Amino acid sequence: MSRNLFDNLLHVKSLFRDRRALGHAFNPQNLPHRRDEISALVNNLVEALRGHAPSNMNLYGRPGSGKTAVTRFVCRDLESKGAAEGCKISTVEINCRNIDTKYRVLAEIGNRLAGEGDEAIPFTGWPADKVFDRVRARMQARAGVHVIVLDEIDHLVRKGSEGDDLLYSLTSLNIGLLEGGAFCCVIGISNDLAFTEMLDPRVQSRLAPIDVVFAPYNATQLEDVLKPRANKGVKEGALDDAVIPLCAALAAKEDGDARRALDLLRISVQQAEQNEVDVVRISHVRQAQNQLEFDQITPTIQDLPLQQKLVLFSILINERNGLNNISTGEVYGTYEMACENAGERPLTSRRVSSLIRGLDMAGIITAKTTSRGRHGMSKRINSCLPPAFDALKVMRSAEPVMDVVVGARYRLQNKL
Ligand SMILES: Nc1ncnc2c1ncn2[C@@H]1O[C@H](COP(=O)(O)OP(=O)(O)OP(=O)(O)O)[C@@H](O)[C@H]1O
Ligand SMILES: [Mg+2]
Repeated sequence: MSRNLFDNLLHVKSLFRDRRALGHAFNPQNLPHRRDEISALVNNLVEALRGHAPSNMNLYGRPGSGKTAVTRFVCRDLESKGAAEGCKISTVEINCRNIDTKYRVLAEIGNRLAGEGDEAIPFTGWPADKVFDRVRARMQARAGVHVIVLDEIDHLVRKGSEGDDLLYSLTSLNIGLLEGGAFCCVIGISNDLAFTEMLDPRVQSRLAPIDVVFAPYNATQLEDVLKPRANKGVKEGALDDAVIPLCAALAAKEDGDARRALDLLRISVQQAEQNEVDVVRISHVRQAQNQLEFDQITPTIQDLPLQQKLVLFSILINERNGLNNISTGEVYGTYEMACENAGERPLTSRRVSSLIRGLDMAGIITAKTTSRGRHGMSKRINSCLPPAFDALKVMRSAEPVMDVVVGARYRLQNKL
């Protein structure tokens, strides 16, 4: 009888109890180590339950510091308390990475607040004033407090005047809404502490937000974040005692990112499953860490422009030849040969220096400037890719010309 391709995997015993508990979309019931941040939101938003307008807020913090999770957690309780107390409260959460123009944000708010028989606002095409009037009319018709959460708002603010214009409009909404017994409060969430400095001073002063800073989690705190989620997500006895502390310690080094800690744990469990063992061990966490690094770096290397790939190639092949602290001159010599093999005209050494700086900023290499006394300044260039990561292979499969370049022979300077 022919076997089905899925038979093998289907019969592997899963180590997960509920994989979703370790996923990004899961909303935990409890958020350890975010008590102060939750209190700051609750102390302000309680005004909505008292029939007053809460202040606007700005929440800042590194990726994975719990900003979105905390805001959802508080808004969920605010809405249910509002319903229990007969207060009209609606919350609208918008992610400005996906919905990234003033028009689209206002249209989205208008559509989420649409009542029965209200016309849908199209994605594009209406005059801005018309969209704005509908939003105001719908807020007034619903009355009560409207909490507008603009998550990842820095994406909008970086786009010219879109952010300024939107926030100006939203803050001016209150003026027209007050007569209708409605209020609007804006909660902006961003990674960038300097975000309000990018705003027009008029918008800043109208917004007058309460700032809440989310500090990164440390390793011990991340352990407390992971434990309840692991209890829910992973079968009892399936985790070696050292696994959670290692995931937490590794993620603490990555700016205390709770998302990273959860990804590490989830992928470690997957690795153990694939190896068909009953217990997740630290070796699986190491494998997960490698996989995550590879997943992050691969697209960065693939998407480098050809000239930058040629420069990176020139650095890597010298390293393979045993050189380290490579100078710009050494890179340039190899780069010229690589260009010839690629059929490309070499750029000037000044341009190549700026491509080297670009690779440094992307975290692929480090280029330290050192003084060579009266010979001027020189760079010491080293790659900083994970040891097991084969960047040459990635570049080779990314574009045919790089296959030719990597496959060619080079005369390189030998290790001294
Ligand atoms: N204190 C916590 N307890 C449990 N899970 C948490 C906690 N803090 C964060 N998480 C989880 O970590 C992940 C990342 O958190 P969240 O999405 O809130 O980060 P963020 O600060 O919004 O990051 P970004 O700036 O990248 O949007 C989510 O899965 C979230 O549920
Ligand atoms: Mg977020």
